[in-house]
Amino acid sequence: MTATTTSAPSNAIGEVPSFQVTIMVRRYNPEVDGEAKWQDFDLTMYGTDRVLDALHKIKWEHDGSLSFRRSCAHGVCGSDAMRINGRNRLACKTLLKDLDLSQPIYVEPIKGLEVEKDLIVDMNPFYQAYRDIKPFLIASDSPDRERLQSAENRERFDDTTKCILCAACTTSCPVFWTDGQYFGPAAIVNAHRFIFDSRDEAAQVRLDILNDREGVWRCRTTFNCTEACPRGIQVTKAIAEVKNALLRGRP
Ligand code: SF4
Ligand code: FES
Repeated sequence: MTATTTSAPSNAIGEVPSFQVTIMVRRYNPEVDGEAKWQDFDLTMYGTDRVLDALHKIKWEHDGSLSFRRSCAHGVCGSDAMRINGRNRLACKTLLKDLDLSQPIYVEPIKGLEVEKDLIVDMNPFYQAYRDIKPFLIASDSPDRERLQSAENRERFDDTTKCILCAACTTSCPVFWTDGQYFGPAAIVNAHRFIFDSRDEAAQVRLDILNDREGVWRCRTTFNCTEACPRGIQVTKAIAEVKNALLRGRP
């Protein structure tokens, strides 16, 4: 057999192309600033970088006072939801190269929750709504082995088990923006997860909670929540199923 030779590619093997990008960050320090303002940073970034990498670069190399939450950096912990070019996304799951790099990239805090500093918002109202729907299994018996469930019954609430409590859905909802009392999509998603669990005995308790004037009936079916969810959860469908359960009982 004759050995073949190929000419070397122009890029070195493994080389990741770099590019210039301008990141506009909404800055706010309540101890100093009267109001929030935009600050721009020109960065050299790489094809594998995400918005979170750009924020790290700003914090570590340009301005250590920039404040934002993150933990896992892999789309699991839900702590870095923010508005990127006007859309709620996780900074760690948003590749820079997928955005329009000919324009500045705008990064600001999620809406509807009080800004504590820069990209950090007060998540307490969000978590309180989550706590209010009793996000835990409620059952009267105490079996000495696991509670069995058919694959069909498990499938019933599979989608809503995927929630990572990032708040991207709730803070993309126009009803939540105008009325901070609304439970919001994330709380309803997590109620759905237990309402449709055949092992749980408190579906009616949660349905009564969500039948409140600030509950599911505030939903205007705008689908912002479904579009915002980084886990691909059919949020609007889950809300509709809870509404149906209220009208017709749990199927
Ligand atoms: S439903 Fe989706 S967008 Fe809403 S909190 Fe859960 S993971 Fe985040
Ligand atoms: S840092 Fe954990 S989800 Fe983005």
